[in-house]
Amino acid sequence: MAKLKVDGKEVEVPDHYTLLQAAEAAGAEVPRFCFHERLSVAGNCRMCLVEVKGGPPKPQASCAMGVRDLRPGPNGEPPEMFTNSPMVKKAREGVMEFLLVNHPLDCPICDQGGECDLQDQAMAYGVDASRYAENKRAVEDKNIGPLVKTVMTRCIHCTRCVRFTTEVAGIAELGLIGRGEDAEITTYLEQAMTSELQGNVIDLCPVGALTSRPNAFQARPWEMTKTESIDVMDAVGSAIRVDARGREVMRILPRVNEAVNEEWISDKTRFVWDGLRTQRLDRPYVRKSGKLTPATWAEAFDAIKAAAAKAAPEKIGAIAGDLASVEEMFALKALLAALGSTSVDCRQDGAKLDPAKGRATYVFNPTIDGIEQADALLLVGANPRFEAAVLNARIRKRWRTGKLTIASVGDMGDLRYKAEMLGAGPETLAELADGKGKFLSVLKKGRKADDPCRPGRCCARRWRGHPRAVRRDRQECRRG
Ligand code: SF4
Ligand code: FES
Repeated sequence: MAKLKVDGKEVEVPDHYTLLQAAEAAGAEVPRFCFHERLSVAGNCRMCLVEVKGGPPKPQASCAMGVRDLRPGPNGEPPEMFTNSPMVKKAREGVMEFLLVNHPLDCPICDQGGECDLQDQAMAYGVDASRYAENKRAVEDKNIGPLVKTVMTRCIHCTRCVRFTTEVAGIAELGLIGRGEDAEITTYLEQAMTSELQGNVIDLCPVGALTSRPNAFQARPWEMTKTESIDVMDAVGSAIRVDARGREVMRILPRVNEAVNEEWISDKTRFVWDGLRTQRLDRPYVRKSGKLTPATWAEAFDAIKAAAAKAAPEKIGAIAGDLASVEEMFALKALLAALGSTSVDCRQDGAKLDPAKGRATYVFNPTIDGIEQADALLLVGANPRFEAAVLNARIRKRWRTGKLTIASVGDMGDLRYKAEMLGAGPETLAELADGKGKFLSVLKKGRKADDPCRPGRCCARRWRGHPRAVRRDRQECRRG
C-alpha cells in the first residue's frame, strides 16, 4: 500500500494505483478522455493533468503516472498531489483549448449531444473564445459498416476505440494512421467492421465521432425513459438498460455488472430493438390454396379451430419460441390441455435440455467471472464468439494473461484467441474420458481441478473453508 495526500487529504491506496485512481479513492474528480479502466493506458489526451508536489515543475498526466513514482517529502512526509490548484486549472483549460481548435462544435446537430464527455468538460474547462483563427481541419467520414456511424472531424484521437477492438474484441480493425494534423482513425481500407462487439465503441467514444447508425437522429437522451433490464438474446444474461420514448424502444445500452458482462454487450443485444421494430409479423396470415394470405384475427382463430377439430389430440403439438413470455406459454399449455394434447416443447432450436438431468444440462457452474481464475478450458462443439460474444471477451481477457490454455472439439474458426483443435467428433471426447487425450494432462494440471462441488463432496461438510466452497455456499448448491 502507498500513502499520499490528495488535495490535503491523506489516503492509502494499493501501490499499483495510478494518480488518477488515487484521486478517485480520495473523492476527487479528474476529467479524462483517453483513460478507461478496462483498456490499456494511452496517456494521449492530457485532460487528466494534476500537480505533483516535489515533482517536475509542470502538470503530470495522472492516468499515466503511478503512485509508486511519487517521491516523499524531505522529512519522509507522504507525497502530495493537487487536482484543483490554479496550475491544474490553467493546464486543463489549455488542453481544452487545443482540443477545440479542430473540433467542429456542431453540438446542436450532433447525435452525442447531451451525453458527450467533451461537451461536459468544456462546461468546466472551456473558455468563451479561442486564440486560434486558423481554418479547422476536416476529415472525411468513413463507412465502417451498418452499425457504427462516423463523423471523423469530431474525433479527438483518444484511441479508446482502437484499444477496445484490439484488446477486448481481439481484432485490430480500427487504427490511427497519419501524424499530426493528418492523423485519423480508420479501418485502413475503409472496410466494414466485423467484430460482434463493435457497438461498444459507440459507448467508449467520448465525443460524437462514433455513434449508433440505426439510432441516428431518433431521440435525445433526456426524452427517453430508462428501464433497467436483463438481456435475453443469448444465455449470458447481460445487464442492460432499455431506453424508450413512449411505447417505442429507441436503444439498448449496457449496465455494469462485474459478474456477468463487465460493461460490454454484444451487437445482437445492442441492436435487437431495430429488428423488433421493423419487418415484423404484425398481422395473422392464413394459408389458402398453398399461399399465405393476410387475414383478420377472427379468420385466423377460425382456421385454427377447424384444423384442431379435424386432428386427433396426439397429432397436435405446440412449440414455444425463445422470446415468448411465461404468460403466453402458460396460455398455450392450457389451450393444448383443452384440446387433449400434452405435446408442448420450447426447444425449437434443438437445445439438448434433458428434464431427467435437471439443472445439470444448462447450469454454468464455473460462473462467468470464474473464467478469470481458470487455467484450462475445453470447448465442446461451442462457438462462444457467436453464441455468447461477451463471454468470449471474458475468455480472451483471461487468455491474454497467458494463464489459460484452450482447446476445442470441433473446428470453430477464429475465436479471437488461440485454441488447439483436438478433433471433431465424439471419439475425441471418448478418448479424453478414457484418459488418453493429449489435453487431459492440461486439464488435470488445472489448479481448480479439485473443484469441491462434485457429486459426493459436499461444500458444507468436507470443503468448509475452501475459497471455492465459500463461493458456492453463497450461490445455490448444485446438489441442493
Ligand atoms: S473515434 Fe472516438 S473513440 Fe476513437 S479515437 Fe476518435 S474520439 Fe477516440
Ligand atoms: S486521461 Fe490521462 S492523458 Fe488522457
